[in-house]
Amino acid sequence: MIDPKKIVLVGMPGSGKSTLGRVLAGKLNFPFYDLDDLIEEKEGKKIARIFAEKGEGYFRKLESSVLSERLAGGEAFVLATGGGAPCYNENMQRINSKGVSVFLDVPLNHILQRLTQTALDIRPLFSGMDTSEIILKLKNMYVERSPFYEQAKIKLRGEDISPELVIA
Ligand code: S3P
Repeated sequence: MIDPKKIVLVGMPGSGKSTLGRVLAGKLNFPFYDLDDLIEEKEGKKIARIFAEKGEGYFRKLESSVLSERLAGGEAFVLATGGGAPCYNENMQRINSKGVSVFLDVPLNHILQRLTQTALDIRPLFSGMDTSEIILKLKNMYVERSPFYEQAKIKLRGEDISPELVIA
């Protein structure tokens, strides 16, 4: 059954899911969860370390199981997913069968500006890349992933999605 009080934000890395999610949760008085934080808690390791030690395949399984657990509970929440989460293991269908998905569709040039060095350090998929490699990777990711993101029930599109503007 779809629960309108389970709000799940999806979109590219650096699109502002966690920032917007926190503000939205505060306004609605719902708890906020970041899927990457839940994974780190469960595994007792940072995401970059999970990728380095166990590989992406392991991470994707863990990601799907933590997501399913959270969706199965009875509580209301706002959940920011990692950029890849909706694109593996039928997660997008699972999200849509349990809650309200929201795609933050932010132009790639804005995403690029947000991916500062610190933000890149915690994102293993971009590790060791220079700017032109990051741009190419982001473009390819967008092409591969947008068919999944586009299945979201709500799409917020913008040059820059500012939480204050979105949540009036
Ligand atoms: C990933 C995005 C990250 C994190 C992991 C993989 C991806 O989350 O889940 O590094 O595949 O795009 P953010 O979207 O918060 O960067």
